Amino acid sequence: MFEGLDPAKLPQHVAIIMDGNGRWAKARHLPRIMGHREGMKSVRAVVEVARKLGIKVLTLYAFSKENWQRPPEEVSFLMRLLREYLEKEVEELHQKGIRVKAIGEIELLPDEIYRLLLGAMERTRANKGMILNLALSYGGRAEIVNAAKEIARLAKEGRFDPEELDEMSFATFLYTRDLPDPDLLIRTSGELRLSNFLLYQCAYTELYFTPTLWPDFREEEFLEALRDYQRRERRFGKTSEQLRG
Ligand code: IPE
Ligand code: IPE
Ligand code: MG
Repeated sequence: MFEGLDPAKLPQHVAIIMDGNGRWAKARHLPRIMGHREGMKSVRAVVEVARKLGIKVLTLYAFSKENWQRPPEEVSFLMRLLREYLEKEVEELHQKGIRVKAIGEIELLPDEIYRLLLGAMERTRANKGMILNLALSYGGRAEIVNAAKEIARLAKEGRFDPEELDEMSFATFLYTRDLPDPDLLIRTSGELRLSNFLLYQCAYTELYFTPTLWPDFREEEFLEALRDYQRRERRFGKTSEQLRG
């Protein structure tokens, strides 16, 4: 099933910008929301493959801070899908040992969904399998600014010495504090941008862009992205010779 993949060279953390649902629907003369519904099937497929492969963290960009500006009907439909997912699928995730986490300004989500999400996180807290990390109401710049604010507040109160600040300690003020940086970032739908996703964390992440629209991105497309990742050399500023020496 996982042909052509080296189990020893799998990314620990894969992050995905799930894009292209609207275009998938439009191409079929369907309302955009049908694309979101079909995209949920890709979510299930990708979660399952990642789990079976033993990937440690899968972060899915499900709703950006900027997405609040979409037409209210679309926002409510997306919230409905999220509610359905949390209501119907958390138990199965739990049975499979998956731990649910979230990043973003989740307190801005509708009350009921916010509570369901906290419940899912609590229910799966002790699970040792894959972490399914949902980026909801997430914005990378806001995350960095909030971290800076928190540091300034603690410094003002004399509870944090600014001299202690470095790249590692700064990262402990981000939503992703207890997660490794993404090794691989996938974006579907052909757009070549980050759209405010994990700006601090993706400093050395391998980027993979595919024209495939999210509802068409299933097991085989995911495996292809992983194979592409495994063909790369991650140098982190060093030379090829240094890495091999
Ligand atoms: C991604 O698909 C889903 C979300 C952003 C929530 P889009 O809805 O952005 O689909 P396109 O980009 O319009 O095709
Ligand atoms: C990014 O997709 C956000 C998610 C996939 C949740 P968008 O479709 O909102 O991105 P832009 O606005 O086209 O860059
Ligand atoms: Mg889009």
